[in-house]
Amino acid sequence: MTHKFEGRVALVTGGSSGIGRGTALAFAREGARVVVADVNDKGGAETVCMIKEIGGEGVFIKTNVSQANEVEELIKRTVEAYNRLDFAFNNAGIAIGGTAADLTETDWNSVISVNLKGVWLCMKYEILQMLKGEGGCIVNTASILGLKGASGLTAYVASKHGVVGLTKTAALEYAEEGIRINAVCPGWIKTGMTENISEDQMAAQTPINRAGKPEDVAGCVVWLCSDAASFVTGHAMVVDGGMVAK
Ligand SMILES: NC(=O)c1ccc[n+]([C@@H]2O[C@H](COP(=O)([O-])OP(=O)(O)OC[C@H]3O[C@@H](n4cnc5c(N)ncnc54)[C@H](O)[C@@H]3O)[C@@H](O)[C@H]2O)c1
Repeated sequence: MTHKFEGRVALVTGGSSGIGRGTALAFAREGARVVVADVNDKGGAETVCMIKEIGGEGVFIKTNVSQANEVEELIKRTVEAYNRLDFAFNNAGIAIGGTAADLTETDWNSVISVNLKGVWLCMKYEILQMLKGEGGCIVNTASILGLKGASGLTAYVASKHGVVGLTKTAALEYAEEGIRINAVCPGWIKTGMTENISEDQMAAQTPINRAGKPEDVAGCVVWLCSDAASFVTGHAMVVDGGMVAK
């Protein structure tokens, strides 16, 4: 087992399931101590158990990423627990359908609050902390729907395009301060969010001809946080089995 992140601390939002859980485990395998943040306590506790089972160290901190006071508290408690913050994966997200004319204001507000405002709030408090330390790396979860449209997913597509814009802008703002900021843009990944779509349907739309797994995204996030990516910032990396290339 390699331990390239020994002594480092990684924060993963949306870490109670899916892509977030897979990435929390990947950070732990590399030797990082991991803070798992999510609204789902049960899943968060399970992720921490899984981290411990592979010999890692982690803690769950219940957090709603759309609430500024909770995100500020999350960063405070992260530093209290582990003294530093090196990597942050801002990944919590929700999907609610609706065309431009049919979407309700409530659903628009819910999606934008979690997917877009949540990523901004997390970046805000993470950057303030990283500026006090030795810099760091932030990866935000956008989507291939941060790069192209999709009928019936107005708010989700708008939120994910927003995440790509936030990522690029913050990357420019903190490039000289030792903070690299990138995004991942997953295609079809088999998680709770996509439970209503069969793996066969996902494979049929994916040139590589299979559904993605959380580990496919986790590998890219770990790489973006590693020294191998030290000249990479402001990048929106597709992890989609070739969907955007079509
Ligand atoms: N699965 C896919 O095909 C796919 C594709 C592209 C992008 N994404 C994105 O990947 C990210 C992870 O999604 P996933 O597929 O693993 O789904 P998931 O539903 O398994 O995970 C999302 C996690 O976010 C948490 N969450 C929701 N609202 C929250 C809030 N307000 N505060 C804190 N945590 C909150 C949920 O409890 C859940 O644990 C999302 O941002 C999603 O939009 C997923």
